[in-house]
Formats: sequence, C-alpha cells, structure tokens
Amino acid sequence: THAAARLDPALEIADIDRRLFGGFVEHLGRHIYDGIFEPGHPSADADGFRADVIELVKELGVTTIRYPGGNFVSGYRWEDGIGPVDQRPTRLDLAWHATETNVVGLHEFQSWLDRIGSELMLAVNLGTRGTEEALDLLEYANTSVDTTRTRERAANGRSAPFGVTMWCLGNEMDGPWQLGHRSATDYGKLASRTAKGMRQLDPTIELVVCGSSSRTMPTFGSWEREVLEHTFDDVDFISCHAYYEEQDGDAQEFLASGVDMDRFIASVVATADHVAAVKQSDKRIMISFDEWNIWYLSRWKEEEATYRPDEWPIAPRQLEDRYSALDAVVFGDLLITLLQHADRVRSASLAQLVNVIAPIMTEPGGPAWRQTTFHPFSLTSRLAQGRAVRLPVDAATFESARFGAVPSVNAVATVDDDGASVFIVNRSTTDAASLRLDVAPLVAALGRDVAVVESHLLHEDDLYAANTLEDRERVGVRPLDGASVEASALTLDLPPVAWAALRLA
Ligand code: AHR
Repeated sequence: THAAARLDPALEIADIDRRLFGGFVEHLGRHIYDGIFEPGHPSADADGFRADVIELVKELGVTTIRYPGGNFVSGYRWEDGIGPVDQRPTRLDLAWHATETNVVGLHEFQSWLDRIGSELMLAVNLGTRGTEEALDLLEYANTSVDTTRTRERAANGRSAPFGVTMWCLGNEMDGPWQLGHRSATDYGKLASRTAKGMRQLDPTIELVVCGSSSRTMPTFGSWEREVLEHTFDDVDFISCHAYYEEQDGDAQEFLASGVDMDRFIASVVATADHVAAVKQSDKRIMISFDEWNIWYLSRWKEEEATYRPDEWPIAPRQLEDRYSALDAVVFGDLLITLLQHADRVRSASLAQLVNVIAPIMTEPGGPAWRQTTFHPFSLTSRLAQGRAVRLPVDAATFESARFGAVPSVNAVATVDDDGASVFIVNRSTTDAASLRLDVAPLVAALGRDVAVVESHLLHEDDLYAANTLEDRERVGVRPLDGASVEASALTLDLPPVAWAALRLA
C-alpha cells in the first residue's frame, strides 16, 4: 500500500492536556497487594513499596492516577483505609469476590504517588453510599480549615490537604453489575446534588459524571443525555469506558478497534452538545476517558464463573492478561485516537497499571517487567508534546464487519516549539505500507529543516509474541530502518500490523 499525508501545523486539534496520559489503580487482584506494595520484596522501601515498580511507573510516564476503583469503589468505605493500620477493618469486596485488608488506603496511596510524581484523581462511592460520605471525604482530603476531620487527617500524618483536583461521581452506575446500580434519572439526581454539595465545600474541584460503561450498553446515548440533563451545570466531564479484545481469532477486525473508539467519542460529544443546545448553553462538557485498554473480558467471565461462593481470597491473581504484539499495535492506535480527539478528551486513564490488565507485571519476591503495551504508552506520553495536529492519511481501506471500509493507516502528529512527533499505525494484516509525508508546512512553520532524530517501531512477525516472566524482553521497540526526511518529505515503510513513533527536529 502506498500512503500519502501532509504534516501541516495549521491543522491543530488542541493543546495536549497532560492528563490524557493518566492511569488507574483499583483495589483489585494483585494490583496493590503483591503489586505496588510488597513489604517483603528485596526492592521494597521502608513503607513497603517496590522500588522496581516505582521506576517502571515513572518510565511509563503516567500523569494523573484514578483511585481506588472501579467497581471496588461502589462498596468502599474510605474511612476503612485511614488511621493506625492494625486497627483497620478487614472487609469483603463484593465487586471482585475478595477480602480487602485495608493495609493500603488514602495516605499510603498518596505517599506512593509522591514517589512517582503523579497526581491523585479520586472516585467517591455513589453505589452503597451517598452525598454525605462524599462530602466527608472531600473535607478530609481538601480542607485546610481546622475541623474534626482535618484534625483526624493531621493525626494520621498529613497536616496539609491532599488537594485533589479531579473527582469521579461514582463508577459505571449504568452497569447492572455495579453495587447501587440505578437508572439514569436516579443517578443524575444523586450526582447533581452530590456535585453541588462538593462545590459548596471546594469550588476549585473538577467533577466527572459517569457516562456509559461501554458503547454497547443498551442504554448508551440515552444514559448520557438523561444524566447530563440533570448534571450539566454541575460537572466538567462525562466519562467514557472502553475495552477491546480480539474475538474469534479475527485479528483484522480487532485492528479496527480505533474506529470504535473514534465513533464512541464522537457520539458522546454530540450527545453532550445536544444537551448544551437544549439548555441554550455555550458550556462544553469534556470527556474523561477514564477506563480504556485491551481486556480479554470474555476470559475473565469464564474465570469468574468458577469462583465458589465461600471463596474470598486476599489479592488473588485476577485479570492478569498477557499482552501480545498485536494487542500493543491496537493499543498504540487507541492512543492515536485519543490524541485525535484532544480537543474534547481532556483526561484519560489507562486501566490499569500493575498486574491487573496492566502494562507492568510483577512476580512476588521476583522481577517486574514491561508488557508489550508499555512501549506505545511510554513513547506516546514522552513524545506527544505541545499541540495535537490532524494528519489525514490517503491510504487503502479494508472491509470491517462492524465499520465498513476502514483506513488501513491511521496517524496523528504533535507539534511543539522544538519540532514534531508522528504516531502511525498500519492496521492491515496483509499489506505493508509505504508512507510519503510532506513536511514542507512544518519546515515553513519552524523556519528550518527537520530530520528524523528518533524512531521506534513495534512489530513482530509472530503477532502473538508476548513478554513473560521467563522471557521478559521478548517484545520491544527498535528503530524504524530507512525512515528519513529528504526534500521536505518523510518516507517510511511499515510492515503489516505495526505501530511506530517518530520525532522530527
Ligand atoms: O478495570 C476493570 C473494571 O472494569 C473496573 O473495575 C470497572 O469500572 C470496569 O467495568
């Protein structure tokens, strides 16, 4: 396939909000316990956090981190996780059928984030709890006034407020599996009054209301509309969640996942703007894509079905998906799609971070390693600087059962004062792609020539190659041979099923 494109800085989408490269840590499986926190591990620091995991999380380049759930938060009592550890209650976690020891809570998690240099994003429980408990948590976390709650916080080791900016009003309240699941109207009313109260307490916070837990939910679209009819004036963001997996061994169809995410975002933007139109408002609700990833959900459902009713393990191996090179290419395309919507997707959280559908894996007492998906995330987070710029590619298409003709090459660029970055994916399972990218408008805008100063290719002939405990660096990235700029044109060749990132400066 021959593909052509033009990198024109004038095709600006928006400046990139760094929160686009956020993550998500849930009390689930071995995410916290035996993941980020393992006091007996040789690399553990005085507080029990694994230094090797901290190093990898830093290298990944995650900004804001959403916590503590997920489905978990809808049954969580945040007070269980504060105060002397030996006095904290042990509880059943109904969401994941596990036992929660509460050894790690808000203070421990914040001190872990302090080591990473990432910002905390908190979700409140609107499943089994309500406005009052959300206000209690907000007062505890963000207030500097001397109150019983803030004295309690100081006694627990933090006299200064946590200063949490972003707050999620519950989690996936449209999902029948969610504790406290309710109708769009009931949730919309609860979210509105909770949001109003939270703003009375702290007007500086940014609030995320729950959108649909997937574009395939039967209530998708009407859920967003009804919820926003109640909360439009009270919130800044509406959430999107999407997980993708290869089904029936159809890699080509799986490689069209970016189209699904693109349409999902466009639909939610249209719905939010419809509510704005009805309300005669110029306000624009932004999207917090606060759960996205590849997740072999069908495998988890089979596993979950084998759980015995009396089995409530502590930190079991749950959702430990092993990602292939193919998964990483689709994943890289999802990042491209998020950047293509940088004007409305102002925050996103990769779900999740360690061991649980994660870019980083650990073995208790053993090593930590990068999954295949680690690479596109860390490279995109590092190289996507400045402004996102549209990069429409003229290329062949393939036929998708769900989406019709799908472009086999998808790309986006970012432009900053020092140069530009290009992110590109070849979605075809059969054809290589030769791209000619006219960079003359970029050269004119910068007032100097550019060259390829960095290139990274993710591709494996074996699409299912993966990194495992036994072979931890099987899949990585390598320079994209032959990519170069001559006469203001970048030329490059991508094999089938490949993702690449290039830096021009
Ligand atoms: O990330 C795993 C789960 O997926 C989250 O707990 C939930 O919000 C979603 O359904």
